Amino acid sequence: STPKSYKYNGATYPKDTYSNVPSSILDKLDRNLHLMPSHPISILRQIVEDHFSSYQALVPSSAVVSVHQNFDELGFPPDHPGRSLTDSYYLNREYMLRTHTSAHEVESYKKGLNKWLLSADVYRRDEIDSSHYPVFHQMEGTHIWPNTELHTLPQLNAELEKQLADIPIIIEDETTISPTNPYQAHHDPIHAEQITKHLKHSLNSLIFRLFGHHAKAGGEPLRVRWIEAYFPFTTPSYEVEVFWQGEWLELLGCGVVMQKTLDQSGVSDKSGWAFGLGLERLSMVLFSIPDIRLFWTSDSRFLSQFKQGQITTFQPYSKYPPCYKDMSFWLHQTSPTAEEVTDHHGASAAGGRSPLPIVDSKTGTGIKAFHENDYCEIVRDVVGDLIESVTLIDEFTHPKTQRKSKCYRLNYRHMDRNLSNEEVNELQSQVQARVVQEMGIEMR
Ligand code: PHE
Repeated sequence: STPKSYKYNGATYPKDTYSNVPSSILDKLDRNLHLMPSHPISILRQIVEDHFSSYQALVPSSAVVSVHQNFDELGFPPDHPGRSLTDSYYLNREYMLRTHTSAHEVESYKKGLNKWLLSADVYRRDEIDSSHYPVFHQMEGTHIWPNTELHTLPQLNAELEKQLADIPIIIEDETTISPTNPYQAHHDPIHAEQITKHLKHSLNSLIFRLFGHHAKAGGEPLRVRWIEAYFPFTTPSYEVEVFWQGEWLELLGCGVVMQKTLDQSGVSDKSGWAFGLGLERLSMVLFSIPDIRLFWTSDSRFLSQFKQGQITTFQPYSKYPPCYKDMSFWLHQTSPTAEEVTDHHGASAAGGRSPLPIVDSKTGTGIKAFHENDYCEIVRDVVGDLIESVTLIDEFTHPKTQRKSKCYRLNYRHMDRNLSNEEVNELQSQVQARVVQEMGIEMR
């Protein structure tokens, strides 16, 4: 029988209708890849910490935060889609696994620190492919000033501008201050402009530190692009992209900290900026790591390749062959498909689209609508890291019965050895049994 509560870090969290954290996820809570010496995630963390050497480096004590910390305190509206059970992991109605490091902003400002960096594991329910994993790592960074010191900003900005003028970087920035991305009403626009400049200069210089080696060695200058964005806890808000190997790569979200956040931290008399950076995607491109699951391997052929302080190119020790199996099934008769899967945590998730599907809002019953994230989670729970991708390859509605059918292709691959066909068949039938039992679907 399943236990009635979660126990973690000496605390007990009674389960309720929100509880949706499987044991495969709980097992990840203490892995701390970002603190493992010579792990690529940790190497990047250290490079960022080196770059912002006068900032205090923080590590939160637990991945469990209150819903209040993760969402309410940061001004997420009650119907924000990122809150939904298909997107986030809840221990119960009140506690969850943080979906972003911003969950620690208020408590960090409360410490009275003006410059800090914080790195941690974050958790989001998602689809399965080579660049998505339900656990990843982020770094939050902020710089705030007592309002009485804001007049020093033009001088600080002039120094940063001089440094940036000397390096081969092209900054493409057509963002403007507008009603959809405004300065805050109580900010003196001159101060808000200086904070925004300091934010941009600081991040441009970090990005050059991470990606500038080719440009510095005489290659094309590095291109960095600024885009307007929306976050409930900053305004103006931006996303930053870097042009890398022929593509624009999204690196981070950032903005001028909402005064409400600072008020809640007891530092109403300060203003400044914050950013949040995803470490996995950055490591994958900088170290040429082809699959996100490799970060979780304990194979020394992976781990022994990296050295503290150095960005080196990963040498694949071999790619074992994949093995795919298809699974076709009918959805429950009364169960419509939940809205298509999108990343509700991202910046574009500004509006309130889907309410919490506790009792399913679409069926109006206890029968949950089919959601791909629920399906993927069962696959991960059974198969673990042997699953490389899950792709919808066919979908149709029976013309007479109106029943919906879906076919998913499950691509299996072990990072460190060959998989046998028998082994994969066994996993596939275990997945089948679980989805039939837990999702009320019928195999075709
Ligand atoms: N927390 C945001 C995310 O995960 C990123 C962010 C951090 C944006 C800080 C603004 C300020 O997408």
